[in-house]
Amino acid sequence: MEKSSGKKNTAVLISGRGSNLRSLIKYSKTKKSLIRIVLVVSDNLNAKGLIYANKSKINNIVIKYSNKKKFEDRLLKLLKRNNIDLICLAGFMKILSGSFIKKFYQPILNIHPSLLPKYKGLNTHNRAILSKDKYSGATVHIVKEKLDSGKIILQKKVKILKSDSVKSLEKKVLKIEHKIYPKAIIKLLASG
Ligand code: GAR
Repeated sequence: MEKSSGKKNTAVLISGRGSNLRSLIKYSKTKKSLIRIVLVVSDNLNAKGLIYANKSKINNIVIKYSNKKKFEDRLLKLLKRNNIDLICLAGFMKILSGSFIKKFYQPILNIHPSLLPKYKGLNTHNRAILSKDKYSGATVHIVKEKLDSGKIILQKKVKILKSDSVKSLEKKVLKIEHKIYPKAIIKLLASG
């Protein structure tokens, strides 16, 4: 794998729609990008995000998730073979084990649709609306063994209006996600 440009070889893991993958691909194509996306991995054969990988001619693979150990063993081999320096989880809906995180040894980032530490896990928009929160938002954080709990790299708020539904809030938050994921990568890589 060519590394002379100093860009980090990046793998993006997805499970579905892939709009964050699309924003990361867009960023990776900019002149000043610090990453090169060399691999997209999906645990779901029908993930729409695979279309973006194909369109941009990025090597992509579906690894069937029969059990965690088998999935992670295959993934680890693939990451090594591709000299991956950074993993970005982008709507990847499986939880990586502590053993995988230790063995990979390089940074793993995740984007989460809430203002962490609030609303770890699923249904974040519904929970924020039900709690009558004034703000929601998105967070990019380092992946640790404990779900949605690693160091926060970047976070941005959006206002929750009285008129907001789960759908409208999701749309607003997603728009922010697309902006902050590339910024968080720059922040992480520029800091060391
Ligand atoms: C995004 O909102 C992302 O933050 C969320 O899934 C969505 C994926 O959308 N991730 C999680 O909830 C992870 N816990 P996308 O496939 O269009 O990027």
